[in-house]
Amino acid sequence: MSTVVYPGSFDPPTNGHLDVIQRASKLFDRVVVAVAQNNNKSPLFSPFERKELIEESVSELNNVEVDVFEGLLIDYVKKQNCNIVIRGIRAVSDFEFEFQMALMNRKLNEKVETLFMMPRASYSFLSSHLVKEIAGLGGDVSTFVSQTTRKALVKKLGRSSGD
Ligand code: PNS
Repeated sequence: MSTVVYPGSFDPPTNGHLDVIQRASKLFDRVVVAVAQNNNKSPLFSPFERKELIEESVSELNNVEVDVFEGLLIDYVKKQNCNIVIRGIRAVSDFEFEFQMALMNRKLNEKVETLFMMPRASYSFLSSHLVKEIAGLGGDVSTFVSQTTRKALVKKLGRSSGD
């Protein structure tokens, strides 16, 4: 059975993330979406809130699980009995960091491969960071995130013009 881990901050999950999850779910037997607990980014949503937001959006995909992980990705991947990491790549600007991370993970464990997937072109400008900024300034993010995530953003950051 082919298992892949799709790790990330997902703070919050965007439609670009969901697009990658849907694509991966068609290619692999089991997709584990792994929400990172210990990144240094002072997230807006707790790891468990992020997990719930993703779960709500993938409930119809029977081969997708959502989990929270702490520590090194490479250790988590091993725990999942898996050797493939999926990362979404939107533009050349993503490449440098992704390349560095993929090669560092390979250095830590030669057996783990990183596969890059492109979300739909219309999501190539989308990022969690910009979604938070727009929502925080009262902009409409309803085409960028799920309805549940939009509501969760409004609850955290205040009223949005998408209401
Ligand atoms: O969505 P992001 O913020 O780009 O995801 C980055 C993430 C969470 C995948 C990366 O920071 C990570 O793997 N963190 C776990 C700690 C780790 O393994 N660090 C070494 C990476 S080479």
